[in-house]
Amino acid sequence: MPFLSETLSRVKPSPTIAVTNKARELKDAGKDVIGLGAGEPDFDTPANIKAAGIRAIEEGKTKYTAVDGLPELKAAICEKFKRDNNLDYTPAQVSVSGGGKQVLFNALVATLNPGDEVIIPAPYWVSYPDMVLLAGGTPVAIEGKLENAFKITADQLDAAITPKTKWFIFNSPSNPTGAGYSKAELKALTDVLMKHPHVWVMSDDMYEHLAFDGFEFCTPAEIEPGLYDRTLTVNGVSKAYAMTGWRIGYAAGPVELIAAMRKVQSQSTSNPCSISQYAAIEALNGPQEFIAENNEAFVRRRNLVVEMLNAAEGITCPTPEGAFYVYPDISGCLGKTSASGAKIENDEEFATALLEENGVAVVFGAAFGLSPNFRVSYATSDEALKEACTRIQAFCKGLT
Ligand SMILES: Cc1ncc(COP(=O)(O)O)c(C=O)c1O
Repeated sequence: MPFLSETLSRVKPSPTIAVTNKARELKDAGKDVIGLGAGEPDFDTPANIKAAGIRAIEEGKTKYTAVDGLPELKAAICEKFKRDNNLDYTPAQVSVSGGGKQVLFNALVATLNPGDEVIIPAPYWVSYPDMVLLAGGTPVAIEGKLENAFKITADQLDAAITPKTKWFIFNSPSNPTGAGYSKAELKALTDVLMKHPHVWVMSDDMYEHLAFDGFEFCTPAEIEPGLYDRTLTVNGVSKAYAMTGWRIGYAAGPVELIAAMRKVQSQSTSNPCSISQYAAIEALNGPQEFIAENNEAFVRRRNLVVEMLNAAEGITCPTPEGAFYVYPDISGCLGKTSASGAKIENDEEFATALLEENGVAVVFGAAFGLSPNFRVSYATSDEALKEACTRIQAFCKGLT
């Protein structure tokens, strides 16, 4: 009898975490490595939010809470959905978990049966397909093409839907491309979904507030109220509030779905950290100005990286609307040999050689389901980005 479960054998560990660890190991061994792999802002959590966490500790708010979130936090989340998305939810329609990751996982575990299909636009956040597999479902990827800024079209979505489709996962602005769907583009997708009433929508709005150049964020239940009863709108404090380590994510949707997710959480982790929940209340209710300030830095860095990568031989890099990622295409680098003699036949070999020879850690595109590309997270200092892009240019120049 095998010790490990068959389900687990279908799942791979997170490649983004693997790259971050590899870069850290090389750094610890004394190598000069610039890490562009991590998916988190380099900014510190704002002081008012930290103070709310400290206050919670001092006031002894350190006990179990309601399984899927404090009433005060759920109230702040309902207000946020109204304020930012014009969506009306009651606290019974809200679930709070240990990060957006757990929210998504709970929803999939609570709803998927063997054979159920989940449509995932590629390139995708690395965890979606593996979470679907862990929950016993079947991931179905649709490829967003470089020509369409990595976004899928309504026809592609329509063609991918089968009687077995349970969920469509939507993520805009996207990890790993940073691409954002305009209102018209999203409406074209929601029109397709309206024709298929058995398909539910999981909208991962984690990068909502990281939107640039006047890009207007939109979410499916807002664009198409007809989808409200079958949409789970997911968000969290990790990215916009620089709170990745605090582990608070949340979602709103139909009461029965939220109750099912609560059941999963009640028999696994119980409530998310009480202290982090108090900090999240402050994040959602407190001043929001710093988000625009952080975004100024992100736009400056995005522009720097896009310009320098497009100047590298063999690389094409679109300018995305949001998040803190770019997803350059490396078609022009394939079939070549690096300065140290490594054959570059695919994006994994490109990323490995770039790390070993020029000390820049990026995540290869195959991990996100679309090749040949790599993902750069530009949530790091301008100096580090300039140096990293200079090294990428040198690496590409050395390809023969
Ligand atoms: C698209 C997307 N969704 C969800 C998450 C999960 O975020 P967290 O669990 O930190 O809330 C991430 C984090 O990288 C992400 O990129």
